[in-house]
Amino acid sequence: MSLAAKVRPPARILVYKRGATAKLPPPQWKPVHLPPPPPITLEADKMPMARALYNGYCANCHGLNAVSGGVVPDLRYLTPETRVRFPSIVFGARAERGMPSFLGAMTVDQMWMIHQYLVKRAHDLKGELETAEKVRL
Ligand code: HEC
Repeated sequence: MSLAAKVRPPARILVYKRGATAKLPPPQWKPVHLPPPPPITLEADKMPMARALYNGYCANCHGLNAVSGGVVPDLRYLTPETRVRFPSIVFGARAERGMPSFLGAMTVDQMWMIHQYLVKRAHDLKGELETAEKVRL
C-alpha cells in the first residue's frame, strides 16, 4: 500500500441500466491519519532483536517490517487506546477474531520489545509522511 493511498474506501456495488442518466455520488475517501507515536524507550542496540521478534511472530499476518497489505491491521497505526490493550490483545483477548494468542509463546519482555519495534516503525512512517508532504509542496 503506498503512503498516499492510506485510505479506507467505501465499498459499493454498481448496477447499470441502459439509457439511465443518474449520476454517482462522489466517493468518500477518508484519509487515515497516523496517531502520534509515543517515544521510543528501547535501547538502540536491542532494536534488531525486537525487529526479529516481530518478523518471526507477527509479520506473516501484519506484514514484513510492520508494513501491512491493508487487510490485517497495520500496527504502525496503533491508537493510544489500542496501545493500552496491546498486552491483552497479544495474549489472547481477540483470539476469536483471528488474532492468535501468544500466551506461553513469548515472554512479557519480548511482547514489549515487539511493541517498541512498532513504535519505532510508526516514527519511521511519520518521518516518511513528513518528507512526502514537503516534496509535494
Ligand atoms: C494469524 C494471523 C496473525 C498473526 C500471526 C498476528 N496477528 Fe495480530 N491480528 C490479526 C488479525 C486478523 C487482527 C484483527 C483482529 C480484530 O479484528 O480485532 C489482529 C489484530 C491485532 C492488534 C489490534 C490492532 C488494532 O488496531 O485493533 C494488535 C495490537 C495485534 N494484532 C498485534 C499482533 C502482534 C504483536 C503479533 C505478533 C506477536 C500479531 N498480532 C500476530 C492476525 C494476526
